[in-house]
Amino acid sequence: MSTPWKSRYAQRTQRMGRSIIRELLKFTQQPDIISFAGGLPAPELFPLAECEAAACRLLNTHGTAALQYGPTEGYPPLRRFICDRMARYGIRAEPGNVLITSGAQQALDLVGKMLINPGDRVLVEEPTYLGALQAWNAYQADYVAVPQDDDGLRTELLEGALRVGPKFIYVLPNFQNPGGTTLSLERRFDLVRLANKYGIPLVEDDPYGALRFEGEHLPPLIALDADHQGDAPSNGHGYMAGNVIYLGTFSKTLAPGLRLGWVVAPVEVVEQLVMMKQGTDLQTSSFDQMLAYEMVKDGFMDEHIRAIRKVYGERRDVMLAALERYFPEGCSWTRPQGGLFLWARVPEWIDTGDLMAEAVQAQVAYVPGFAFYPDATRGRNTMRLNFSNAGPAQMEEGIRRLGNLLKAKVAEHDRLHAVAA
Ligand SMILES: Cc1ncc(COP(=O)(O)O)c(C=O)c1O
Repeated sequence: MSTPWKSRYAQRTQRMGRSIIRELLKFTQQPDIISFAGGLPAPELFPLAECEAAACRLLNTHGTAALQYGPTEGYPPLRRFICDRMARYGIRAEPGNVLITSGAQQALDLVGKMLINPGDRVLVEEPTYLGALQAWNAYQADYVAVPQDDDGLRTELLEGALRVGPKFIYVLPNFQNPGGTTLSLERRFDLVRLANKYGIPLVEDDPYGALRFEGEHLPPLIALDADHQGDAPSNGHGYMAGNVIYLGTFSKTLAPGLRLGWVVAPVEVVEQLVMMKQGTDLQTSSFDQMLAYEMVKDGFMDEHIRAIRKVYGERRDVMLAALERYFPEGCSWTRPQGGLFLWARVPEWIDTGDLMAEAVQAQVAYVPGFAFYPDATRGRNTMRLNFSNAGPAQMEEGIRRLGNLLKAKVAEHDRLHAVAA
C-alpha cells in the first residue's frame, strides 16, 4: 500500500503554501515573457572572467582544501574579509561574530529555527520579504505587522505593537524588498531605542545596502545599536553583547548562484546558530566560499559594485519614466534610491492577483503585492516590480503592456459607472 503522505506530514507543513514566487518564476522561463517578477540580478553583469580565473587559481593552489569539508562557521579568510568590509559601514565585527551561510535565505531559516516557538509573534514591516514569511511559517510563527510609508517602517506605531510582546523585530532598512523604501535616520534611531527599551531583538536584513545609486548612505541598525549600548566586551575573537542580528549576502553583488550569505551577531548567538546550521548542512560549500574569496581578496568588489550601481540606477530611471508614460491616472509608485525593486499601487478596485492571468497572456509578469503581507487579504491593489533584470527596451515594452492592461480596466470601470449613473 502506498503511503498517504499528507497524513504523515508534520503540523508545521500546514502553514507552508506553495511559493507564489516559484510559481511565477516558472513563467519567467518562457522565452517571450518580460518579467518584472523575480529578484534576479542582471546576468550580463556576472563576473564570468574573474570567476573563471579565480577558479583556476584556486584549484591550482588550494584545490584539495576547496573540495574538502570545512568549519561550520565558514572559511576563515572570508570571515575576516567580511569583517573588514562591514567596518566600512561602521560595523565593528570580529571573525567570531561572523557565520557564513548558504545565502541570506538560510540565515533567515536558522534565525527562525533558533528563535521561534509555535505561536510566537514576529514583528514585521507591512509589506515584508516573502521569503522570510515562508521560512518562518514553517516554524509556525504568527505576525504583528506594522505599516510602512516612503520613509520605511512607521516607528510612531511601533510602541503599541511592541507591547504585544513579539519575539523579535524583522526589518529591511535599505531599499526594502518589496517596497523599495529606505528607513530614515530618525526612524533608525527610534527603532534601536525602542527595541532596547522593550528588550526585543532586531533582525536586520540588508541584501541591498551596497547598491545605492543616489543619496547619502545611512548607518545600519547594528552600528547604531552598538553606539546605543556602548562598547561591548570582546572575548578576543568577537564582541559578546548586542541586540541586533545582521544578515548580508553576496547574491546581489557577486552572483546568487554562489549561495553565499553571512550573519553578524554577538558570539553566543553565532555559536547557537552554528549548532542549528550543523543539523541543516554542516557547512556552506568550501569551494564556493574559497572561490568568492579568491575573486574579491584583491579589491575587485569595489569596481564591480560601482558597475552594478550604474546599470541598476539607469534601469530604475527607465522604469520610472515608463511608469510615468504608460500607467493610467490613479496609480502611484515608490522611487527607490537603490536596490532592485519598486512598489506600485493601482486603483483600489483592481486586484493585482486576478490581473496576473491577463498579464501573463500579454507576456509580462510581476509579483502581486498580497504575497508580501502576512494577511493576504491586504495589499490586493499593489505589485512589486523588479528593475534589475530586463534591459531598457524590454522594460519600456513590459511597462507599456502592463499600462495597457490597467488602462483597459480603468476604461471598463468608468463605462460601468457611467451606465450605473
Ligand atoms: C530581503 C531579502 N532577504 C534575503 C534574501 C535571500 O538572499 P540570498 O540569495 O542571499 O539567499 C533576499 C533575496 O532576494 C532578499 O530580498
